[in-house]
Amino acid sequence: MRRTSVSDALNSAAAVDHILVKGWVRTRRDSKGLSFLEVNDGSCLKNLQVVVDDTIPAYEHLTLVTTGAAVEVQGALIPSPGKGQKWEVKATNVTLLGAADPHTYPLQKKGHSDEFLRDIGHLRPRTNKYGALFRIRSESAFAVHNFFRERGFYYIHTPIITGADCEGAGEMFAVTTLAGFNKDDTTAFTDDFFGKKAYLTVSGQLEAELFACALGKVYTFGPTFRAENSNTPRHAAEFWMIEPEVAFADLADNMDLGEEFVRTLVTHVMEHCAADLELFARFVDKELMTSLEVIAGETYVRLPYVEAVELLQKSGQPFEFPVTYGTDLQTEHERYLTEKYFQKPVIVYNYPKEIKAFYMRLNDDGRTVAAMDLLVPRVGELIGGSQREERLDVLERRINEFHLEPTAYEWYLDTRRFGTVPHAGFGLGFERFLMMITGVTNIRDVIPFPRTPKHLPPEVREEKKA
Ligand code: 4AD
Ligand code: MG
Repeated sequence: MRRTSVSDALNSAAAVDHILVKGWVRTRRDSKGLSFLEVNDGSCLKNLQVVVDDTIPAYEHLTLVTTGAAVEVQGALIPSPGKGQKWEVKATNVTLLGAADPHTYPLQKKGHSDEFLRDIGHLRPRTNKYGALFRIRSESAFAVHNFFRERGFYYIHTPIITGADCEGAGEMFAVTTLAGFNKDDTTAFTDDFFGKKAYLTVSGQLEAELFACALGKVYTFGPTFRAENSNTPRHAAEFWMIEPEVAFADLADNMDLGEEFVRTLVTHVMEHCAADLELFARFVDKELMTSLEVIAGETYVRLPYVEAVELLQKSGQPFEFPVTYGTDLQTEHERYLTEKYFQKPVIVYNYPKEIKAFYMRLNDDGRTVAAMDLLVPRVGELIGGSQREERLDVLERRINEFHLEPTAYEWYLDTRRFGTVPHAGFGLGFERFLMMITGVTNIRDVIPFPRTPKHLPPEVREEKKA
């Protein structure tokens, strides 16, 4: 007999005489001559209630069926007299597939704190909250591909190991096979695997630009790595980024795309993950649904950087970091703008050229670049992007101003040498999106295995050989 998922069983249109369900026991409750199992198999948030009476074979083994144990249940799907569920299973047989010792199994019925669960990250997907979280993560990833596919974008796989520093911020992890690796010893690299310095990518943008200038509209969706030693709730050393790049597009087109993208993703998740999202609205952030409705429904504010600075300076808020023209906005400033002042997403654009990357298009004022950051409630910066500098001479000048090595960017400059066109793109941090959509406030809790300074679970420690 084929296994029926809990989700399918609960959504069944009719009673079923013979059904086979497999899953993990959330709880077992015994009353005279009867036991009630709550079985979850990850297919949905809800459990399937299984009623076992003491006439079934091997009923005495049911004492081993404890929280966390894996079971196989055969029986009939019948209307449930209990409230909260339409169907339940009346078991004809329950087989214990894998026991979970109640004295050592860490997940018991009571709710556990996020901190506690982070320490047992290998087991936390078995809780309601993290099951819901990772189902939403999966559905969101699907929605990303769907969004771009429907709009004629091609999915490009940009390299994870790279020789190019995209953001020029010096936050890259080196990739090496040299045992006595010394990052500052430049001669050492000739003996290294690639014969030169290699890194884990911080962004697929530069490569995506090459493809946008050939296939027109492309996007990347992959892991990116930053060796920022900042232990904030919004930064991870390994995170997933979605980077669309569009030829024949300017900053205004880019803002339109970013706005439509966020709105569409939120709408998709609200439609397809309603039950899972409910959990976050009930237990994590009471304002979640109202906030998501605003993000999905309203048009976003577009605010030049200069005006953002003025507004923040006049706000009378006791910010930890002062706001002056020419400094990058801090999360506290971003959150004030989007959460308090406008109470909806805000796109800040035209930043001073000194605080943004070399590839951003220089505006006619000579002081600002065509950059944009999309800020959202609870998170701050969700998207960072720009129109790219398509003029060869200006780009070469910018590379020099940033003290970058021009010869290293020859391949990139070729797109400006041969058939150059205006183009634009952005990067959306996938974990930041998940924080926004669930109300979860720590990035460690929206990625299966968070990588942050001094933290790399699950680890396999090599035993010392005797
Ligand atoms: O603003 P960033 O650094 O932009 C870029 O990397 C561009 N190359 C993107 C592009 O134009 N194609 O990063 C983009 C987004 C941020 O807005 C943020 O959401 C996320 O990536 N992000 C991080 N998320 C988690 N942990 C980190 N350490 C992050 N750094 C950036
Ligand atoms: Mg940024």
